[in-house]
Amino acid sequence: MFWRKHPKKFFSPEEQRRIVEEIRKALAVARANKTKAADLLRERLQVLTQGQSPGPVHFGARDAGGVGVRSPLWNRRIPAGSTYTPYTSSSLDAQYITEGLANTPGGSSKLCLSCHDGTLAIGNVNVLNGAENATIPMTGTGAGGVMPPGEGTTSGFTRFIGTDLRNDHPISITYNADLALRDGELRQLDASQRWPAGSGSVIGVRAPGFKPLIPLEPTGAGGAGQVQCATCHDPHIRETNAAAGNQKFLRMNRFQETPPVAGLTTVGDIICLSCHDKNGAFGVWAFSAHANPAVANETYRAEAAALREFPPDLPVWRAACLNCHDTHTVQGARRLTREGTDAPLPPGSPFAAKQGGNPALEQTCYQCHTTAAKSVLNSVATVPNIESDFALPIRMPITTPEQGGSTDEVHDIATGFNDGFVDCTGPTNRCGTDFMESRTKLAQRHAESGHSAGVQRRLACDSADAIRAKEASFAQRFSFAAERSAAGMGLRT
Ligand code: HEC
Ligand code: HEC
Ligand code: HEC
Ligand code: HEC
Ligand code: HEC
Repeated sequence: MFWRKHPKKFFSPEEQRRIVEEIRKALAVARANKTKAADLLRERLQVLTQGQSPGPVHFGARDAGGVGVRSPLWNRRIPAGSTYTPYTSSSLDAQYITEGLANTPGGSSKLCLSCHDGTLAIGNVNVLNGAENATIPMTGTGAGGVMPPGEGTTSGFTRFIGTDLRNDHPISITYNADLALRDGELRQLDASQRWPAGSGSVIGVRAPGFKPLIPLEPTGAGGAGQVQCATCHDPHIRETNAAAGNQKFLRMNRFQETPPVAGLTTVGDIICLSCHDKNGAFGVWAFSAHANPAVANETYRAEAAALREFPPDLPVWRAACLNCHDTHTVQGARRLTREGTDAPLPPGSPFAAKQGGNPALEQTCYQCHTTAAKSVLNSVATVPNIESDFALPIRMPITTPEQGGSTDEVHDIATGFNDGFVDCTGPTNRCGTDFMESRTKLAQRHAESGHSAGVQRRLACDSADAIRAKEASFAQRFSFAAERSAAGMGLRT
């Protein structure tokens, strides 16, 4: 029974003081060593709240009249008029169906953001010992008592997530069967929003006696299950295996523990794979160079691992999705690509954190596919240097308008366009599965490619009418072949 297991709903003023004192101590330690503060907090808060509270820390109090105030978790004030810029992308199917994007996060996310968006002092609570809007003095915080900036508030290495959520994994989005169908690479939920169908042991909305590994919150229209912060994180999770590395309070593995196979292995797989089916039943991801232990056995250099809070000597195959993605990445990066901006690094510091910048997804690849001196890996002997390829005079064009180029991304995996040939805007299309590209974006002229004007003219003209003419000529040849093979044409049947 829930209440027998968690008999305690409120904390006495004395307990609150102890909790606050523990947070204060942990944050004080942050001054000396900021990477350890979260670990300390985790340890101390878990000791204090184990078996007592159904949620994380309660700052809540009983009101002055002695009647228990059912304080919301953390008793936090959401700043009035706080607006957030939600994650967006041209391939975000949730943007085109379900409820679209909300600039006000819902459910647990609001509460997490009340500290993690950095707008409000961490010590600010609604009620403390009967006093309203009290602020508990804290040390070790950022200026104004807010979340410390870590490696910088626009970097990908900070717990100060900010109100601009474009660089954070989408939240407050309804994940249902329609979305999975349209995206094509999400676990296909059943009508009750469960996966695997019926059992829902991995994904589902919590119900009495039912606890999926990855819970959606019933915060969508009509109680539909949505992805929120607490879908991936559970601040109560006990990280008992120090060797596994910082797990960031994640409900499933932060890293790949066993080599990936076609199906989901909940004990061995990285958390992303529980929702994103990058295998498509064929083992596509499992065979990727970046996922295969026989190929990507190169390890992270100590400085790079420390910045990412990866365990020392983490091999590339185990970092899996997190090699190229960071669910709270540098501001400016597109599609959560890790370090995917053109922000310059301080001279001679290839391992510094990027601060903001314009989207530049090739930079994600250049973390490793570069010279030995600049690579985040210990060895690049068999890791091709892609960065030098893109410094050649004749190369594929990749400079986008955001980076000062003249044309859009030549390959844009958008799924929300209608170019007059394909309509990818509707709720039921499967454009996400095939990553259709708009023809208006393909084969654009691009001086950057370094080809001569003549070649450019041919490329440009290839893009439309010429392609149709070629298709027609292929068709003719095909029908000719078919005729030759028809009975009586002298070919063996
Ligand atoms: C009362 C303020 C507060 C609230 C509310 C809060 N956090 Fe935190 N959280 C902190 C502080 C303080 C840290 C440590 C910051 C540091 O060390 O730089 C932290 C750290 C973290 C970390 C980083 C752990 C690590 O090892 O790097 C995660 C993940 C996290 N919080 C998730 C959440 C989630 C999810 C929620 C909502 C369920 C939440 N937090 C709500 C204050 C809060
Ligand atoms: C889809 C899953 C997912 C969702 C949703 C999610 N996170 Fe995270 N979060 C992660 C993962 C994975 C990491 C570790 C990323 C890494 O370091 O490589 C992480 C890391 C963090 C960290 C530590 C950041 C750092 O640089 O050390 C904080 C703080 C955090 N999350 C808070 C939140 C908050 C607040 C929300 C809601 C607004 C949220 N997360 C939503 C998956 C998620
Ligand atoms: C709870 C399930 C869940 C988990 C776990 C999860 N995601 Fe997602 N993710 C989603 C959903 C749902 C979407 C929205 C898909 C859409 O609308 O096309 C999404 C969107 C994304 C997008 C943006 C897609 C776009 O087209 O712009 C990226 C990138 C992404 N996730 C990466 C990750 C990574 C990396 C991890 C692991 C660290 C992860 N996700 C874990 C459910 C999840
Ligand atoms: C080698 C680098 C790399 C690895 C490893 C990687 N990705 Fe990506 N991912 C990318 C790039 C690049 C894009 C496209 C970004 C763009 O076009 O803006 C992308 C796009 C995506 C998208 C958006 C398109 C879509 O599929 O809807 C999702 C979601 C995603 N990745 C999830 C994952 C997950 C989950 C994993 C781990 C199983 C993973 N990625 C591993 C580089 C990578
Ligand atoms: C964290 C490091 C890392 C990042 C980031 C990374 N790669 Fe890789 N990549 C590797 C490693 C390691 C291998 C395997 C090399 C080997 O054969 O030993 C590899 C292999 C490859 C291969 C196969 C090469 C071959 O010779 O078979 C391609 C293609 C590739 N990467 C493309 C990319 C692209 C594109 C991106 C960016 C979207 C990217 N990688 C990002 C580390 C990385």
